[in-house]
Parts: sequence; C-alpha cells; structure tokens
Amino acid sequence: MSKGLRKGLTSYGDAGFSLFLRKAFIKAMGYSDDALERPIVGITDTYSDYNPCHGNVPQIIQAVKRGVMLAGAMPMVFPTISIHESFAHPTSMYLRNLMAMDTEEMIRAQPMDAVVVIGGCDKTLPAQIMAAASADLPTIVIPVGPMVVGHHKGEVLGACTDCRRLWGAHRAGEIDEAEIEVVNGRLAPSVGTCMVMGTASTMACMIEAMGLSLPMSATIPAPHAERFRLAEASGKRAAELAIGGAPRPSEIMTRRAVRNAQVVMQAIGGSTNGLIHLTAMASRLGIPVDLTEFDAVGREVPVLIDLKPSGDHYMEHFHHAGGVPKLLRELGDLIDLDAPTVAGGTLRDVVAAAEEVPGQTVIRARANPIKPIGAMAVLTGNLAPRGALIKHSAASPRLLQHEGRAVVFDSIPDMAARIDDPNLDVTADDVLVLCNAGPKGAPGMPEAGYLPIPKKLARQGVKDMVRISDARMSGTAFGTIVLHVTPESAVGGPLGLVRTGDRIRLDVAARTIDLLVDEAELTRRAEARPPAERPDWASRGYARLFHDTVTQADEGCDFDFMKPAS
Ligand code: FES
Repeated sequence: MSKGLRKGLTSYGDAGFSLFLRKAFIKAMGYSDDALERPIVGITDTYSDYNPCHGNVPQIIQAVKRGVMLAGAMPMVFPTISIHESFAHPTSMYLRNLMAMDTEEMIRAQPMDAVVVIGGCDKTLPAQIMAAASADLPTIVIPVGPMVVGHHKGEVLGACTDCRRLWGAHRAGEIDEAEIEVVNGRLAPSVGTCMVMGTASTMACMIEAMGLSLPMSATIPAPHAERFRLAEASGKRAAELAIGGAPRPSEIMTRRAVRNAQVVMQAIGGSTNGLIHLTAMASRLGIPVDLTEFDAVGREVPVLIDLKPSGDHYMEHFHHAGGVPKLLRELGDLIDLDAPTVAGGTLRDVVAAAEEVPGQTVIRARANPIKPIGAMAVLTGNLAPRGALIKHSAASPRLLQHEGRAVVFDSIPDMAARIDDPNLDVTADDVLVLCNAGPKGAPGMPEAGYLPIPKKLARQGVKDMVRISDARMSGTAFGTIVLHVTPESAVGGPLGLVRTGDRIRLDVAARTIDLLVDEAELTRRAEARPPAERPDWASRGYARLFHDTVTQADEGCDFDFMKPAS
C-alpha cells in the first residue's frame, strides 16, 4: 500500500503526474526529497482566536512535530473547524457533527499515515474521535489539558461549576455587581479546558481509559511543561504508528474499551454529555451503547473521584493524585485491563505504572467512595419511553424521589421571557418543564436543561428544584435535573404533552419518570397536536441537513447516515 506523499493522489488520470505535481507544489515550502520520502503524521490544528480553551495548541503542535521528527517521520499540520462552548451559536452541539465530517474528510483527503488529533473544548474531542473511528487511520489523541484553578477571597474556584454557582448567588442578590465583575476575571485563569469534571474533562478521561491517548494525557494542566513533553512523546508514538500502520482506532475502540469508558464515566462523576458523545463515537464502529447496560454499570461502579461538581477538587488535583492510571488501579476488576492502548500494550501496563501518591484524597479507594454507586442513572416511564438521564451524584438527595406540579415552558425563549416574572405561579415544590429544546427542537440540544431557579424563589433561598427537559446540561452544573428526555417533544415525544398543573413523579431509586395523567387524556392531547413540519430555520444548507438527519439522544445525535456501511 502507498505511504507518505504517494497516498491518496489527486485524480488526474496519470498517477505519475499527480505525484510529480504534488511534489512540485510542496517543494515551494522548502521541503527536501529526504523529508518527502518519509511516512507522514498529520496533525490537526484547532487553534482559533474564538477558542481560548485551545490557546496552547500552537505550543502542543511544536512539541508533537519535534517528537515526530525525532522518530524519523514527517509532521504535516492542517486546520480543521474549532468549536468553543461560549462562542458557538446556537450551541456547540449543533456543530459537532460538522467538525466530525470536516476532520474525517481532511484525514481521508490528504496524504498521511497516522494522525494526531489535538482537541479539548467539549465537542471537539468527540468530533475528532467520531472522525478518527470512521477514517480508521492510526490515531493518537492529545487533549489540550485543563486550566489551572482560580482564587477569590481565599476560595479556590474554577470554570464553570463556580461560574454557575456564583452567578446564581448574584441572581439571588448575595453578590453585588462589582464583585461579580471581579469574579468574572478569576474563573478562567489560564488557557485550557474547564478544570472541573465537565464535558471536556469527562471526555479526556474516557478517551485515556479507552486507550486512545498516552497515560496521564487527560489531567496534565494545559500550561504545564509536562503537557508539552506528553505532546512530544505522542508525536514519537504517532511516527511509530505511521511507520507500522497499526493499531487503528477500530483495534482500540472495541466493545471492552467502550464498556471501560462507561465505567470511568460513572466513577469520575462525569458529564451527562459524555454518554451522548460515547454513543456517537462507538456507533461509528457499529458498537451500540445500551442505556440499560449503562444504568447497570452505574449501579455497580462507585464514584471515586472527589471533583466538582460531584465533589470538592479540580482537575490539577486529580492529576497530582495519580490521574486516570491510578483511578483504573482503584477500579480494579471493574475495568477490563486486557484492553489494548495506542501506546502499544494494554491497560494492565498502564495500571502497573500508576503512581502512588501518599496522603492524596482525590482518588478514593473502592472501600471509601465519594458515592457508593455511579454518578448517573437512566430513567424511563411514560414521560421518556426511550429514556432520560439524571446525574444524581450532583443532585439534591431530598429531591430524588419527588412528586410535584408541572410548570411548563414551551421553548427556551418562552422560559427566558417568563422564568423571572414576579407573577409566575411557581413554588419550590413544583417541577419545571422545558420543551422543544432537543436535537431538532432548539436546534442542537443546547445546554438549557439547567433551568435557572425563578428569581423570586432564588431570593427566598431556594437552591434546587426538579427540572425536566429534552435538552442537555453542562457537565459543570449542579441540581436535580432530568435531561435528554427521548423522544424529544419536537418529534412528538410525550414531554410535549405536559401542561402546567399536571403532576409529575420522579423516582430515581426506581429509575422512573412519569406524567400522572391518564392515558385517554394523553391520547386526546397527542391527537390535537399539529403535525410536525420543517421549521424555517432548517430551510437550507447545514441547518437542513442537521434537522433532517440528526438522531435522538439515545443514538448519540449523530447524523443517521454516518453509521458504518455494513
Ligand atoms: Fe471549553 Fe469549558 S468552555 S472546556
């Protein structure tokens, strides 16, 4: 099989001419024939002025290039889409599949024998792994790494659990305008990804546990020298992959790796988004992620990592305590240690090399967990026939079994318009319901599931309420929040049948979420609903592709035509 520059020649009907032309153009950059004969390692560049989380990408790329060249291959950097959470309208999830397509096609279109993908901000790593799985070229992943923590008035804080907590305190009148401005400058004190167990950290830990990146890659802080040494080592290893042609993502992302990722997701108190992304990544290789199995994993696996929002610490503390290798050691037989890794061995080798840090309290032993069972539970019932998710490790224990009156918002704009209305008829025992915020409804299933506590209740000291939606939630958020209700209301899901005043019962122990309205009345409401039509926002272009082909949360919200052909 062709290697290096000879791979994937442009079609001119004359292979010799295609190579001649390619070399003529690339020589314009000053490359020698020696360089052009080497195996090629492609390196994605997701640096963007709109993506501060990826601010260290240029330095990572330099280190990867050094490693590739030290091992005798040629590095070639190419740009792809970059997505930042707070700079993506209407929501980053709307663009994840576009980034996956862009990355996959650039890997396919350009000559490379292996690829290093560098990502981190929430949707970027999932998009890159989806792409890598489909392209199935030897791949090594380098997360950009978490930010270091900030400090305010003697308190350690960070993005974005504390962004939400302190903004909530500001809304409740506990923090004034001047102080919240000061806080604003202290929540993200360095480049890198959010340093709590949000989606970025969750994905980085899962990917390391799946063996797609080198040990400790998930947790080394973004600005640390160690991160760039890891990048150099990843570059060296990528050169070996380019020369040897293996392992490919399909050899690493096996069913056992996907299950290991689910175990780790539960044990770290991971972001609920992680489940959607894992489903999308695995389904690119035809591996299903079954919600019942995920829930069963959650009943078996304790939360061992003491990190916000489920615990107290931040990613740099997890790193200094031994990182993912030490976590895998503590998980013991809950992890399939025979799963291979991109480093060349198995997770057993990773665990054998894990560092023991005396006195650390961030990575707990199984005998002394943060929570005896996993972070997330799957709920079903007449309100969510295909499932819904709750991160009960970050919820209020008193609300995990709750029956209350529904207060319904038909859409995100409706919620924004009414939630703080002093005349809103709402009490702390009510259940806030948000409709039309799912994959097709919003569109892109924004992180609107963390409905704010109505201002008048917040000012009375109410910190949490049961909230239900077909939206997602930031992994950094805290509360009794039922998410990913499937099917979503915009495609006829029963969430759209809830009316203000109905009763809803949540029972996390029983794994149920039910609308206490009789079947005949629900049928009447369903029949009265107008038929779903393509909305105006989806009339053309990517929006139309997205609307017409995006799947529901239980299928990973990938496009329905991206599954493997066979
Ligand atoms: Fe980029 Fe949180 S905003 S990881």
